[in-house]
Amino acid sequence: MKVLGIMGSPRIKGNTDLLLDEALKGARSQGAGVEKIIVDRLNISPCREYYGCLRDGNCIIKDDMDALYPKLFSDDMVILASPIFFYGLSAQVKVLIDRCQALWSRINVLHQQPTPGRKGALIAVGATRGQKLFDGAILTAKYFFKAIGVSYADELLVQGVDKRGEIKEHPTTLLEAFELGKRLAQK
Ligand SMILES: Cc1cc2nc3c(=O)[nH]c(=O)nc-3n(C[C@H](O)[C@H](O)[C@H](O)COP(=O)(O)O)c2cc1C
Repeated sequence: MKVLGIMGSPRIKGNTDLLLDEALKGARSQGAGVEKIIVDRLNISPCREYYGCLRDGNCIIKDDMDALYPKLFSDDMVILASPIFFYGLSAQVKVLIDRCQALWSRINVLHQQPTPGRKGALIAVGATRGQKLFDGAILTAKYFFKAIGVSYADELLVQGVDKRGEIKEHPTTLLEAFELGKRLAQK
């Protein structure tokens, strides 16, 4: 069992980062192998709509997505973690997601199958408490998971947390993140 954690905040040791670390700890506690990628540290171009992926499922842009595609297409579990920026996922995460059009093409155009039974979870954290705070992020995350052949299996949505590392004042929420990782690794 391999769990890929996608850390979508530019803020290292921020709320998203700390929540994802707990989730990965939870997965590790069940014997899963884990890998965390910090999207902000990678060189990933936005999708340029060259549509090379429609021909063979590969993007013609050569950057850090090259190393990510195999993981996104085969790791058993994917945890997508992002702060809420303007009612959506962070720009870092959105750029990575858009480049997954290549994986969408593999499945939907070229009829290649990713590893079956893969599951994903969303961790999102925002400062305010608006009723629709997570609607945009959930919609994009669900469609992202679908595009890469992963079912949307779990979520942890955290409201009212703003300052860097403020999540440490919410030990119960950190525990919930740990439990999410644990559950995912048991599925
Ligand atoms: C560019 C930007 C946009 C933001 N937009 C929202 C928003 O729409 N709603 C909200 O509740 N919080 C918003 N926030 C606050 C962050 O979601 C919040 O500070 C979060 O805890 C940051 O997580 P991090 O420490 O993992 O980066 C925004 C912050 C930034 C920097």
